[in-house]
Amino acid sequence: MSEVRDLLKKSGYSDKAIEYYAKKVNVGDIKNPDAYFSYTGPCGDTMEIYLKIESTVIIDAKFRAIGCAGSFVSGSALTEMIKGKTLEEAAEIDEEDILNHLEGIPAPKIHCACLTKRTLQKTIKRYKGQETD
Ligand code: FES
Repeated sequence: MSEVRDLLKKSGYSDKAIEYYAKKVNVGDIKNPDAYFSYTGPCGDTMEIYLKIESTVIIDAKFRAIGCAGSFVSGSALTEMIKGKTLEEAAEIDEEDILNHLEGIPAPKIHCACLTKRTLQKTIKRYKGQETD
């Protein structure tokens, strides 16, 4: 993993993002999730988000991705950020918030945070029975 860490560091990933990647934070699924959505972004990568919800509060969140390191660190960041938040608060998180939380990822990977944000927004819309377009 140290070679991968070096590569990520050289590419512009922060230490925090590298930790998320190394520890696979929140990577996996949730059995019988209250909300789930799978979204393939314009880059061709796919993310799945699983949520456990009590009342309107997200009490657990996990994700799986077929994608780049940017998608994994963004997925870890967002799933960490939304635990304990209401669905409305979580839906308002944008890519800028994810990037700030990560403290640095390479500029060409910024759209990966957007894929993550969109997947969450669609997960929440599906849960509420709204169109996911
Ligand atoms: Fe597609 Fe990163 S290149 S999510």
